[in-house]
Amino acid sequence: MKRLALGILGSGKGSNCRAILESIQAGTLPAEARVVISEVLDAPILEIAREFSVPNAYLPPGQFRTRLEPNAEAELVKMLREAGVELVVLAGFMRVLKATMLSAFARRIINIHPSLLPKFPGLEAWKQALDAGATVTGCTVHFVDEKIDHGDIIAQSEVPILPNDSPDSLHARIQIAEHELYPAAITKLCGEI
Ligand code: GAR
Repeated sequence: MKRLALGILGSGKGSNCRAILESIQAGTLPAEARVVISEVLDAPILEIAREFSVPNAYLPPGQFRTRLEPNAEAELVKMLREAGVELVVLAGFMRVLKATMLSAFARRIINIHPSLLPKFPGLEAWKQALDAGATVTGCTVHFVDEKIDHGDIIAQSEVPILPNDSPDSLHARIQIAEHELYPAAITKLCGEI
């Protein structure tokens, strides 16, 4: 199977990025990580990229808090194209992508979200599930469109909510499920793209 060229974007600790890079290294995910990009200068995800010898870059986001400045988004497209990226993988990337990225990589951007979408889009989805009194939640891999945590669903995994769960214990269990689901969902796409 052809190795799909991935560009991984993230803002934080990068545990999903690590799971993807480990799956590539183990030979279970027929892909190649071409670049890891973060808009947070000291994000651990960049350190993980270096640990796996994957090219990595900091992208200054500009003045906005929830999205990239238009120049920064254009620069992101350039960086991903120069790296030959075929599929953009959001792994805890906490900025909303706009038309420049969405049109440059139409149906080639995927995200992982810590709930069973369409339930609980937005921030701290595990906390939202606890507060709503749900008994089950999970995680979702989906194509990215112009709405937040929205778009065609590729794969989902359920996680039970236990009676004594705290936000942290629940998020930790969802992340274990994410680390299985994301590499498996990308593997599925490898046969389709
Ligand atoms: C993950 O739990 C992911 O589902 C979530 O951010 C975390 C990143 O963790 N993403 C969202 O909430 C997107 N709306 P990581 O940096 O350890 O991979």
